Amino acid sequence: MTSPIPVLTIDGPSGAGKGTVSRMVASRLGWHYLDSGALYRAVGVAASWANLDLSDSAALVRCAFDTTVTFREQAGAEMRVIVNGVDATDELRLETTGAVASAIAAIPEVRSALKERQRAFRVAPGLVADGRDMGTVIFPDAPYKVFLTASAEERAERRYKQLKDKGVSVTIDGLLREILARDARDAQRTVAPLRPAEDAVLIDTTGLAIDAVVQRVLALVPTPVA
Ligand code: DC
Repeated sequence: MTSPIPVLTIDGPSGAGKGTVSRMVASRLGWHYLDSGALYRAVGVAASWANLDLSDSAALVRCAFDTTVTFREQAGAEMRVIVNGVDATDELRLETTGAVASAIAAIPEVRSALKERQRAFRVAPGLVADGRDMGTVIFPDAPYKVFLTASAEERAERRYKQLKDKGVSVTIDGLLREILARDARDAQRTVAPLRPAEDAVLIDTTGLAIDAVVQRVLALVPTPVA
């Protein structure tokens, strides 16, 4: 019997360090990487381009089915995300896009529309899947599951530094309010709310350096015998 392709799920609230940790772990393991948040963000961007009303669920569901998203890996440079043929990488990262994505992600049919697309990333030799419901809904049979958290204050501070480095002007208080609002929306929605899978290992990254978190996550995955 062939064993299923292994998946390591890394879920948690925004700003817990999932993206950086997942990318580093995937690169160390030589596995593929799924940034599921980018799919929701891509649908959000496509919906904005089409001037869709955020209260028009039917149109948003159609948009989720119709939007094409491709991830373009580049050696030594950050991955580009192409939405409906247009490089939307920079727009995808905006706080406003995150807020739209979070609203759209609360629509059950949007989540269903993206389900199989996410599962298609499960390709040998393995997958690191980063999101909110990777361990609970998309890959419930994943053998390795992590839930990353960090205090809201630390997450706001990390986001502040990232945005400041990019020359974006924001305040920590404003970011903290946005983070708390997004956490509440992601955790309280009825479908696939943000919560750790029962079999997930919880890692609180408050005060931990990225490398330390990466080591803890890697320790969960047995090294293949050559
Ligand atoms: O991880 P992120 O910040 O890029 O995600 C943006 C939004 O998308 C997030 O607020 C909630 C939603 N999302 C989700 O509902 N499920 C996922 N697996 C990933 C993201």
